[in-house]
Amino acid sequence: MGIKRWWGPTFLILAGLQVGCSEISRRETGENMMPKIHPEIWPRLSSPMAEDPDLEARIEEMLSSMTIEAKVGQVIQAEINSITPEEIREYRVGSVLNGGGGWPGEKKHSTPQDWLAMADGFWEASMDVPEGEPAIPILWGLDAVHGHNNVIGATLFPHNIALGAANSLELIREVGRVTAREVAATGQDWNFGPTIAVARDDRWGRTYESYSEDPEIVQACAVAMVEGLQGKVGSEDFLGDEQLIATAKHYLGDGGTDKGVDQGDTLASEEELRDIHGAGYVTALEAGVQTVMASFSGWHGTKVHGSRELLTDVLKGQMGFDGFVVGDWNAHGQVPGCSNESCPAAINAGLDMFMVPQDWKALYGNTLEQVRSGEISLQRIDDAVRRILRVKMRAGLFERGKPSSRPLALRPEIIGSPEHREVARRAVRESLVLLKNNAGLLPLAPDARVLVAGDGADNITKQSGGWTITWQGTGNENDEFPGATSIWEGIRQVVESAGGTATLSPKGRFDERPDVAIVVFGEDPYAEFLGDRDSIDYSPRSDRDLDLLGKLRTEDIPVVSVFLTGRPLWINPELNASQAFVVAWLPGTEGAGVADVLFTDAKGSVRHDFRGRLSFSWPKSADQVVLNRGDKDYDPLFPLGYGLAYGLEKSIGEQSEVKARTERASRSVYFQGGPVAPWQLYLGVPEAPAIAAGSGRVASPGSNPLVIRGVDHRRQEDARAVEWPGEVAGRVYLKSAEPVDISRESNGNMVLAFDVAVDTPPSGRVMLGMGCGEACGAEIDLTGTLSDLAVGEWQSLLVPLRCFADEGVDMSRIDTPFSISTAGALAIRFSDVRLATVAEEGIVCP
Ligand code: BGC
Ligand code: BGC
Repeated sequence: MGIKRWWGPTFLILAGLQVGCSEISRRETGENMMPKIHPEIWPRLSSPMAEDPDLEARIEEMLSSMTIEAKVGQVIQAEINSITPEEIREYRVGSVLNGGGGWPGEKKHSTPQDWLAMADGFWEASMDVPEGEPAIPILWGLDAVHGHNNVIGATLFPHNIALGAANSLELIREVGRVTAREVAATGQDWNFGPTIAVARDDRWGRTYESYSEDPEIVQACAVAMVEGLQGKVGSEDFLGDEQLIATAKHYLGDGGTDKGVDQGDTLASEEELRDIHGAGYVTALEAGVQTVMASFSGWHGTKVHGSRELLTDVLKGQMGFDGFVVGDWNAHGQVPGCSNESCPAAINAGLDMFMVPQDWKALYGNTLEQVRSGEISLQRIDDAVRRILRVKMRAGLFERGKPSSRPLALRPEIIGSPEHREVARRAVRESLVLLKNNAGLLPLAPDARVLVAGDGADNITKQSGGWTITWQGTGNENDEFPGATSIWEGIRQVVESAGGTATLSPKGRFDERPDVAIVVFGEDPYAEFLGDRDSIDYSPRSDRDLDLLGKLRTEDIPVVSVFLTGRPLWINPELNASQAFVVAWLPGTEGAGVADVLFTDAKGSVRHDFRGRLSFSWPKSADQVVLNRGDKDYDPLFPLGYGLAYGLEKSIGEQSEVKARTERASRSVYFQGGPVAPWQLYLGVPEAPAIAAGSGRVASPGSNPLVIRGVDHRRQEDARAVEWPGEVAGRVYLKSAEPVDISRESNGNMVLAFDVAVDTPPSGRVMLGMGCGEACGAEIDLTGTLSDLAVGEWQSLLVPLRCFADEGVDMSRIDTPFSISTAGALAIRFSDVRLATVAEEGIVCP
């Protein structure tokens, strides 16, 4: 295929290193621990679409003329760059997807024509069938989770958390309608959204994809978005040319995982599962959502992909769902006994379509075998195909024709059109939440001298968050957002046209004293598990933004903070240092919506008031990681529903800046500047107790000791130099009494990364280890890697976590994430020990 992939066995040339790595191995999980589900206590629903006998007869007729091969093809969904039209024809594959940052031909700058050309190729292949077999148009799904976010130039909306705060269902409907139009213009039919997770622990990396912590708000937003995307059931345009098929995801309990771990385990009771996490499904199903995506997560130890109770008994049985259930990205491979390439258990549990990006061919072959052998019953596969055909028919796919011939495909100019951008700009305005406005600093007069600071001010990447052009939303430049406006740009326009002066200085420098400073800062983009946090302290390890606010405050310049964030975070110090504080969430491409609200018109009248109200409770202390309306001791800084408006402000006093002790060890940062507490650095030599190493010189006992001392890499003493004498075995390692669970990071292809410079190359074997408690752990050989490094030069080494998992390290209880040992002579310097993701680059196993 000639396509570069980073998920398979692959080679990487990194700073001159080339090392191979073997396939991921799966760890079997424990037996089924799921408590019993009682379908009868779940809401009894029926499909809102009156049964259509003609349509059902058409489905039956089609089914009866399909071969088993063709049926199995329908239940497979492959990734667009991992399958060719030729293969679609050959295997009669029913669906394709592009994931976040999946573009036609892996070309980031693909044009609408490139998207359409690819869609046409797939469509034509699907319609080209042997005599006597029905032609079934292929279905292409993607994540348009805040607008058509994989396409350069599209209108990108604020993420769901902001829409939840905007408090207008009519707005959400509009956002859905515009999103559907832009996607239809590039030829796709199906959106993997809305996410109707009810995020309960703000450490979760997908909190911003959730409308609210409150099930009632999610219920309402779910209907609005489903109707915006699909149209209203019974109306003329339902699933028409300008609409998409919607997906309610991720069923069920994705927002309720223990400790907010993405793809983790939800420990709610059955009633909580129904009333909190299930609430949005009730209304989404009533609004006619046609597909449901199964969640990666589990419930009491059983992965949803393998749960017949949840998929079949509750969803399809009790709740009457007659569309189809699609899996999530290789999530079936996490069901006990399954792999990415084989999983009869998921189909038997009620999954109707596998999302199997790369390994589709093997999965197709195995599934076909399993149907032939009866391991998957013909009845079950027929039911899955029937559901897929039903949705394809309802969506009019059989009549729509070639993607490029469809009405909106002929009008690519609607992508990012002024009309669409206006909807997004309105969404930005209406989602801003005013937390503080002491002495009525806001609204500002536009003819003032305004300093605009902070690293988010002129940074469309940062203001857009994850799922923006790339999966993680990182690696994009402002000029890759044609037609978009940064927050700074919106401010500049308003101020300059009123005769004021606006100056941009991310670091807050100025020559002439400004009347006011607007500081835009906050979280950097992330998606999925890479956004999981250990703490909800906004900035536990850096005071950069606070220093900037403090500097302006010392100069007596009034400060308006504009906070970019995907979740509520503990920001008391930043709040205290600001006279006014606005939460802008992740507003997307129309940054001008911020200035619309911050500034009056030339005559001093408010142009747009603040309308946003918190749809998540805001913490007063960083240990309030689970803080939801209705909690027993609910004690937020700002409750759900809070949000000031002009003229209705109250003064907000100083808040406590005492940092809550975050007991939990960081799962991803172990050494940065020094060991990150509670991680500690130790020296170990045989027969002696561990020696804790600070930044000064520490040596092991004896005449020829192992020595460690602090040295400079990027900053003062942010690295350690270690010298092994070559006569005694010695080890330097990071350890904490509190182990961390990094199994998700390991499954997710993350790497252990550290910076290293070799000063004396190894004279003996050097091992890199990870430990998982008493008598648990493994080491891998690093000798070759270190010997190959140029002496004295800093390099980053990346070692896939799965290299350790493959050696039997239990990733769910790591207490020693990093250890280097040798009995030979060796001198190295190291710094920055952390987990990292290596998006396109590839992976290494020493
Ligand atoms: C995510 C889904 C998404 C899918 C396809 C998964 O990793 O969990 O939300 O729809 O990828 O990109
Ligand atoms: C995500 C996809 C993404 C992919 C990157 C998956 O887990 O869900 O959307 O494109 O990883 O390879």
